[in-house]
Amino acid sequence: MTKSIVVVGSINLDMVVTTPRTPLPGENILGSGFRMVSGGKGSNQALAAKKIGGSGYLLGCVGSDVFGDLILDSLKYEGLDISLIRRRSGISTGVALITVEHDTGINTIVVDPGANLTLEIDDLDALDSLFGKAGAALFQLEIPLQVVEEGSRRARCRGLKTVLDAGPPRDTSVGITKHFDVVSPNRMELGALTGVKTGGNSSVVAASRKIIDEGVPEVVVKMGDEGAVVVTREGAWHVPPFRVKAVDTTGAGDSFTAALTVALEEGMSLLGATRFACAAGALAATVKGSLTSVPDREDVEELISVQEVNWERI
Ligand code: RIB
Repeated sequence: MTKSIVVVGSINLDMVVTTPRTPLPGENILGSGFRMVSGGKGSNQALAAKKIGGSGYLLGCVGSDVFGDLILDSLKYEGLDISLIRRRSGISTGVALITVEHDTGINTIVVDPGANLTLEIDDLDALDSLFGKAGAALFQLEIPLQVVEEGSRRARCRGLKTVLDAGPPRDTSVGITKHFDVVSPNRMELGALTGVKTGGNSSVVAASRKIIDEGVPEVVVKMGDEGAVVVTREGAWHVPPFRVKAVDTTGAGDSFTAALTVALEEGMSLLGATRFACAAGALAATVKGSLTSVPDREDVEELISVQEVNWERI
């Protein structure tokens, strides 16, 4: 039985349009299928922790506006505990403007964090009573960075495993990773965090070593349809991808990191947990939306049982 996962993170209303292709800078193209759905890396990961691990709590902020109402209704509908979500007046709920390319599911995302940036260090006090029953704490970078740093420090002091999903890229130094047991960026986020130009596996491993040098034991890099790269002090491994038909990659990384956190909390090996996370991320890419695409645990286990995926040392 998984202990609870505490997620401290962002809550957004995602405004999504399907496009024939990703627009070029300055280009105006026609899209279709506009939809407004709940999202935000924090919400997506908290729901994934709940659906895959059994229990997820979310600390975050929305505005006192209609977007905030819509999101809270949908999170409640999904069965997520919303008691730790703060409402702020005079500021909009976070919004994400998203394009999804029709044939590939590849996205672009622009976030205005709005109320997410009003989360304060004092808000972390609400987690004191939860720390005793939680096994891991999961953060991302769509909230104030000082809250991420202090939250990870507190969680670690209380004996929780601490995991950082290093998205989206922020203007911060690699030092932000120091209170984390596991850091999981995608390739672009890894480049932004370390200043290394990341491309193939060797540059990804070199950049990951910069995080390891901060004292972080484990780095798991999300490589999209190339699977994942795992780097520790002992070596580096490639975990190949599960083969699926991607229709929308939005939120796939969120299901990945939440599944990784759940599996590690349950005591799975790092490489086994990464394979589990790859399966969750792949399944999320087969469904439109981000919150709506979070897979059930049974589906993750089923995919692992029907596709043989074995890691190799690189
Ligand atoms: O990771 C996907 C999420 O990033 C979207 O739901 C969007 O809100 C942004 O936070």
